[in-house]
Parts: sequence; structure tokens; C-alpha cells
Amino acid sequence: MNTSFERSTNTKVDWLTPPELVKKLGYFDLDPCCPLDAPFYHAKQNFTVDEDDLSQDWFGRVYLNPPYGKGMELWIEKLKFHGNGIALIFARTETKCFFDHIWNAADALLFVKGRIRFYHVSGIQGGTSGAPSVFVAYGQTNAQALKNSGIAGRFLPLK
Ligand SMILES: C[S@@+](CC[C@H](N)C(=O)[O-])C[C@H]1O[C@@H](n2cnc3c(N)ncnc32)[C@H](O)[C@@H]1O
Repeated sequence: MNTSFERSTNTKVDWLTPPELVKKLGYFDLDPCCPLDAPFYHAKQNFTVDEDDLSQDWFGRVYLNPPYGKGMELWIEKLKFHGNGIALIFARTETKCFFDHIWNAADALLFVKGRIRFYHVSGIQGGTSGAPSVFVAYGQTNAQALKNSGIAGRFLPLK
């Protein structure tokens, strides 16, 4: 079985962040991309696809793991303008998204050591992802949270 979702041809978007990783980043007010029937929550308030978070006002400290694939940059752009939160995405550092919304806009990055094993919406942990991941901090408080998280990886301040 191919457990590598990055190389897979399926279009599943429900790849959930291991809760133990998000806990290391502290309390979040909002997860704007929460699955329907989530097995766990990362924030106090959660938008699902039914609320269409891109048309909503975001508030407070945001934890964002956006749907992967085409359109992902819309979520990163929205977090950039919101200015308070942490995103988890693939470390595709050469992309337009990275150059438009991260390299010159984010406060810090944490490149994750090894590969994250994301969860299925069933609550079962899947195999290792097919690409490296990076946490992206917007706002100095979030940069400090990444720096002090204890998550194995390489911290890179950008401001
Ligand atoms: C990669 S998963 C991340 C889930 C969760 N935030 C986490 O990190 O564990 C992306 C989620 O975004 C949801 N989603 C897709 N489009 C959305 C939209 N317009 N508004 C809110 N959520 C959406 C999908 O249902 C999916 O569960």
C-alpha cells in the first residue's frame, strides 16, 4: 500500500496534524480548516468546509493546516494578512506561494526534522508524509512559540 499521500494520486484533504505537535505550540483561538467529524481539536473554535472559512473573518491566534494542493496559497495569504498564527505546510521553498507570502512576510520558520505522520479523520495515525514539512509563524509571539516549542527541527528567524 502506498502510504505516501504526497506521491499518491488521491485528492483526500483530511490529513490531520498530530495533536501532540500542536500542543507544543500553545493555545490557539481558531482552526479555520477543521475536518467534519474531527477526532480531536487544535483550537477553541473551529470552522469546517460547511462554514467556508475563506469567506469568514478570522480572529485571535490561528492554527492553520490548509487543504493541500491547488488553492492552498489562498489560506496562506489570508493568514499573512491576519498576521497572528502558525501554519503547517509542505516545505516547498521554491514555489510562488513561498515567495509571495512567506519568505518576505513571515516572522520565522521551523523546518521539521524527519517526516510527520499525519492522522486520518478516523483518528488513526497514517504513514509518513511524502514531503518535508515546515511550520510558518506570523507575528513575533508565534515566532517565539516555534523557537521554544521543543519540536525537533531547524528554527529560522526571518525578521
Ligand atoms: C489538511 S486538513 C487539516 C485539518 C486540521 N486543521 C488539522 O491540522 O488537523 C484540511 C482541512 O480543511 C478542510 N477544509 C477544506 N476547505 C475548507 C474551507 N473552505 N473551510 C474550512 N475548512 C475547509 C478540509 O475538510 C480538511 O479537513
